[in-house]
Amino acid sequence: MKVAVVGRGNVGGGLADLWEKAGHDVTRIGSDGGDVSDAEAVLFALPGGAIADAFDKVTGLDGKTVIDATNLIGAEPPDGFASNAEFVKSKTGGPTAKSFNINFANIYDRISEARATPSNIWCGDDEARDVVEQLNRDAGFDPVYAGPLENAHAQEELLKLVFAVNQGGMGPFFYRMAPPDQL
Ligand SMILES: NC(=O)c1ccc[n+]([C@@H]2O[C@H](COP(=O)([O-])OP(=O)(O)OC[C@H]3O[C@@H](n4cnc5c(N)ncnc54)[C@H](OP(=O)(O)O)[C@@H]3O)[C@@H](O)[C@H]2O)c1
Repeated sequence: MKVAVVGRGNVGGGLADLWEKAGHDVTRIGSDGGDVSDAEAVLFALPGGAIADAFDKVTGLDGKTVIDATNLIGAEPPDGFASNAEFVKSKTGGPTAKSFNINFANIYDRISEARATPSNIWCGDDEARDVVEQLNRDAGFDPVYAGPLENAHAQEELLKLVFAVNQGGMGPFFYRMAPPDQL
């Protein structure tokens, strides 16, 4: 799949490495912007407060399937939107999902150590499902569907609890949500 990552830091760069290993063709875009016309899927992995800025610098986003991985740390979604993901959808008009915001990038290189495949929550449009779930699996995660894009706000807020567990002493961690016979 042709994938563009907007943000080539811990998350964008880390997932780009994993996806390239899985055979995808990844274009990495930083704060100078660029064009994503060729991409079948676009990952947003830039600071949450800079999401609107990306639309001034990145071209070719109309109708694209976008996965928004941003978190809002000391920032709010753009005015009138409950979440960054819903803002993205309003700009692209394409299939949109929220995913990869509830996993730590600094342990992507340890996914294969896990006894069971780690989960990665996503919510969003059904039209994005095939792409999101494939890119989850190709990064080493088991995708867990969390409902429509209206749930993106709750998924963004979940970060507070994730940070609380992290800072409570566990450090960066994976998690797994599965029926009893799959744990
Ligand atoms: N780190 C994690 O474990 C983690 C996990 C889940 C979600 N997140 C979220 O994912 C996002 C990225 O986190 P990160 O840790 O990967 O950050 P990071 O390492 O600081 O990388 C940020 C990237 O965003 C780019 N960028 C900054 N402003 C931009 C703009 N206006 N337009 C386009 N690109 C821009 C930077 O470009 P340059 O390369 O040109 O500087 C850089 O490549 C954040 O929203 C964060 O909260 C982080």
